[in-house]
Amino acid sequence: MVKKKTCIFISGKGSNLRNLISRSRDNNFPIKISLVICNNMEAYGVNYAKKNKVPYIFVDAKKKNYENKILFNLKKHKISFICLAGYMKIISSRIIRNYKNKIINIHPSLLPKFKGLNTHLRAIKNNEKYSGCTVHYVNSKLDSGKIILQKKIKIKKNDTPLSLAKRILAEEHKLYPKAILKVFNL
Ligand code: GAR
Repeated sequence: MVKKKTCIFISGKGSNLRNLISRSRDNNFPIKISLVICNNMEAYGVNYAKKNKVPYIFVDAKKKNYENKILFNLKKHKISFICLAGYMKIISSRIIRNYKNKIINIHPSLLPKFKGLNTHLRAIKNNEKYSGCTVHYVNSKLDSGKIILQKKIKIKKNDTPLSLAKRILAEEHKLYPKAILKVFNL
């Protein structure tokens, strides 16, 4: 199998990154993590790139050359597929145009419900019975691209945003690799 050279975008803890790095070691998994892009100098997740000798770069969304730096590095590393994994910035339409239908994201809610931030708090406050996570294609509207896979879990009576986030994150680690297999028809 020729693995797709993949870039993972992160902003924080990087547990999805860690999980995808580990899954990508499997010969039958269709992606190779060839680059990590991070917009937060303090992100713990960068340690997983370092530890696994995956090239990584930091970008600063406030800088003028921000997009150019991203596109330059994607080209330099011959990236053909992108996974957003806890990346807390909007991907610009220019990058989306360059990677049409080649960018996917994981979001901690049952989209189209609760797009954006603070999903767990909003789901609990709204007295939802279920929440979960969604892997979807990225288009120019926030958390709105075509859904690839979704996992639903029950919200417990005594759930807090933190306890719910923890249970959903464990599901994300199963769902993201499954969705990647589905994208490549495996
Ligand atoms: C995950 O729960 C992911 O779904 C969420 O951030 C967390 C990152 O965790 N993403 C978003 O909210 C995107 N809007 P991780 O850094 O441990 O992978």
